[in-house]
Amino acid sequence: MPVELDWENLGFSYMKLPYRYIAYYKNGQWEEGRLTDDATLHISESSPALHYGQQAFEGLKAYRTKSGVIQLFRPDENAKRLQRTADRLLMPQVPTDMFIKACKQVTKANEDYVPPYGTGGTLYLRPLLIGVGDIIGVKPADEYIFTVFAMPVGNYFKGGLVPTNFLIQDEYDRAAPHGTGAAKVGGNYAASLLPGDQAKKAGFSDVIYLDPATHTKIEEVGSANFFGITANNEFITPISPSILPSITKYSLLYLAEKRLGLKAIESDVFVDDLEKFTEAGACGTAAVISPIGGVQNGDAFHVFYSETEVGPVTQQLYDELTGIQFGDIEAPEGWIVIVD
Ligand code: PLP
Ligand code: COI
Repeated sequence: MPVELDWENLGFSYMKLPYRYIAYYKNGQWEEGRLTDDATLHISESSPALHYGQQAFEGLKAYRTKSGVIQLFRPDENAKRLQRTADRLLMPQVPTDMFIKACKQVTKANEDYVPPYGTGGTLYLRPLLIGVGDIIGVKPADEYIFTVFAMPVGNYFKGGLVPTNFLIQDEYDRAAPHGTGAAKVGGNYAASLLPGDQAKKAGFSDVIYLDPATHTKIEEVGSANFFGITANNEFITPISPSILPSITKYSLLYLAEKRLGLKAIESDVFVDDLEKFTEAGACGTAAVISPIGGVQNGDAFHVFYSETEVGPVTQQLYDELTGIQFGDIEAPEGWIVIVD
């Protein structure tokens, strides 16, 4: 049974739950992982994760369905993305079955913190892979920690399904053209802290970054991917080697085409060509689908559908995606993993 919490108003904040998973990589192999109630990591002061950013993370959610069953959404895709990120940073891969088992164990051990069905809340899981040990030269660690912790969350952007505004950033980049933008590494987020803070202080939900090579195309939001809908029933998301390959975005590309009958397109999205979009949104695990009301682009402010109301196609996509995640709508094969 869920514990007593203000489930409807969770927001997106850290909460220390009773259990997390931890596994150590030593002598070239993963040791057996286990659950622990210790929420503090004990690592060497010289750990490469601390100095050279040899670390990666993931984000996925557990959902409580109407019947009370708890399920994960496409955890194998998070496992695969973490493996690609690990390759990029010369870290050992966490095998997919170990990753999914860890996520299931942490969810099960903290099941009283999986928000009740109907509150809109979910259990956010944060897998983390870090290089540790006594190393001071710039080289990969010999030892690693893989941990998964969790917390109940609600909306990431304060509006939820009410549109909010975003700031197109022309001064700073989150990633380099051939850097680590497509990998889920902390360094990308460190680069986004200053522009993100400036945008929030100016009243925007987050930054929309442009392609780092030419600053003419939309890349993504600091914490989510971007999509737009056109009057020709197209669902368009930017294509670029320096944006994070969002699992939500690829799910929406599939659902837009197969379930909503839209044309799903990954292509360049020129910042001078926003007029063609009748609706726009940010999508991601934390962001779910967050409608973008308007964007500030230099001196110009461009409104997509409305600053106060979600557009009809964005609403349909939201209903389809969250219906699948909460078990109300049949999922495409392999998308749902039950926590048993
Ligand atoms: N882009 C960035 C920069 C993110 O941090 C996230 C969040 O994970 C996403 C996109 C969305 O990815 P996903 O849908 O896999 O959560
Ligand atoms: C996620 O959606 O899982 C993210 O990682 C976004 C943000 C919290 C960094």
